[in-house]
Amino acid sequence: RIVYVNGDYINEHDAKVSIFDRGFLFADAVYEVTAVVNGHLIENEGHMNRLARSCNELELTLPVTIEELTHIQQELIRLNQLDEGGIYLQLSRGTAGDRDFAYPQNIQPTLVLFTQARSLLDSPKAKKGMKVVTIEDIRWHRRDIKTVQLLAPCMAKQFALSQGYDDAWLTEGGYITEGSSNNAYIVTEHNTVVTRPLSRDILHGITRQALLDLGAKHAIKIEERLFTPEEAMHAKEAFISSATTFVYPVVEINDQPIGDGKPGPIAKQLRDIYIDLVK
Ligand code: PDD
Repeated sequence: RIVYVNGDYINEHDAKVSIFDRGFLFADAVYEVTAVVNGHLIENEGHMNRLARSCNELELTLPVTIEELTHIQQELIRLNQLDEGGIYLQLSRGTAGDRDFAYPQNIQPTLVLFTQARSLLDSPKAKKGMKVVTIEDIRWHRRDIKTVQLLAPCMAKQFALSQGYDDAWLTEGGYITEGSSNNAYIVTEHNTVVTRPLSRDILHGITRQALLDLGAKHAIKIEERLFTPEEAMHAKEAFISSATTFVYPVVEINDQPIGDGKPGPIAKQLRDIYIDLVK
């Protein structure tokens, strides 16, 4: 693979970042994952806007313009002949001379990007659905900033897998926040899609926004409000969204089958119309 590091397109085996990089020492870095379908970036404007917002919240300065960033993404797609998958982009505050908590002055940010080939349109989990388990959300209180501080979601995902589930839905104060790396939705008996409103408690998913827009266009009722694991376990349908999964149905929550235990029609419809949009 050809990857991008601070201005250079190089072989992944030659790519190096210092042990004093603040991304490595403090998770002082933000990231984005943009899906690629048929060699094209999906919803990338949204991802770039969110990146700029994350940077702003952390007083991080992008070393290149958004136009240049998009050019780098497109160059990597071309160099790696990426047809379907994702592009990972990470910007850290940079490499300091030593380990110091305070933001150093006059530091050069570290920018890395790499591609990941992966089948997105055709996915077993989209057909079969996922089994999720709810666990306590132990992440920090600025989940709206997309930082690489991801140990809590790694622990959540690992716990879920070790217990035979596909993912975890995180709970705080008795309500679902989101999935370990995706936004969470349920469908009520009146066919209303319910998802948590935007706040500092969840990541403002780019796919989530696209689905809300599509839902409005296709007369799908959507309500942004809190919901409990109990309500979710008795919902008609459940599903998740993210850049690289699009929409995956959830067919079981805490061992309780959702609806008839098969992927639901609204999740399927949303996945289909999202795919129509990105193809
Ligand atoms: N994760 N919530 C969390 C906690 C996430 O990490 C993600 C994305 C989402 C969905 O956001 P979007 O639709 O913009 O991808 C929600 C990415 C894909 C990742 O970490 O790989």
